[in-house]
Amino acid sequence: MLMIAFLMSCNRDKNHPGYTYFPDMAYSQAAETYSPSAVFADGRTMITPAEGTIPRGFTPYPFKAKSFEDQVAAGKTLMNPLEASTAVITEGKRQYEIYCIHCHGAQGKGDGHLYTSKLFLAKPANLMDPITQNKPDGEIYHIITMGTLSGLMGPHGSQVQSQNRWAIIHYLRQLAK
Ligand code: HEC
Repeated sequence: MLMIAFLMSCNRDKNHPGYTYFPDMAYSQAAETYSPSAVFADGRTMITPAEGTIPRGFTPYPFKAKSFEDQVAAGKTLMNPLEASTAVITEGKRQYEIYCIHCHGAQGKGDGHLYTSKLFLAKPANLMDPITQNKPDGEIYHIITMGTLSGLMGPHGSQVQSQNRWAIIHYLRQLAK
């Protein structure tokens, strides 16, 4: 009897997949991301991350947009973590030329192509002016991150990486010398 069972298990039809124990474990049930789910209490297949979840490498930013108090507070609290080395300034220049030059111009005077061609109507600030240069690094960082108080310049926090925002500030200091 044992022998027969043994022979049968070897003599399998190659076109038959065989018998599966616990088929619902062998074949996982695929669910469409946005389809309703019978499994979860809220009926959704795609689960929202737990409250307070942040992406890897992300630092929560505590200062609000369009708040003068928060902008000043950022200036007092945030310190430029980078040294004004040649490498940092060179990278700052590179980043400025990607993200800022089209509005603020090659010399930072507020005469970039978007403005002079009248494609962008708000007058970009002259970043070489004492009004900007007398602001602490943290305040300029805040403006780049969250935009200006008036909102005429939008936030650049999602485009320009944090380190690169600080590098741009070193470059702007250098440019003003
Ligand atoms: C789409 C055009 C545009 C781009 C791109 C842009 N800016 Fe601006 N920026 C403006 C305008 C317009 C103002 C003046 C707005 C206002 O007064 O509210 C301004 C104001 C500023 C100020 C405030 C100056 C002050 O002392 O009040 C800083 C600092 C600044 N920009 C830096 C930057 C940097 C750095 C970048 C690149 C990361 C950048 N901007 C990109 C248009 C732009």
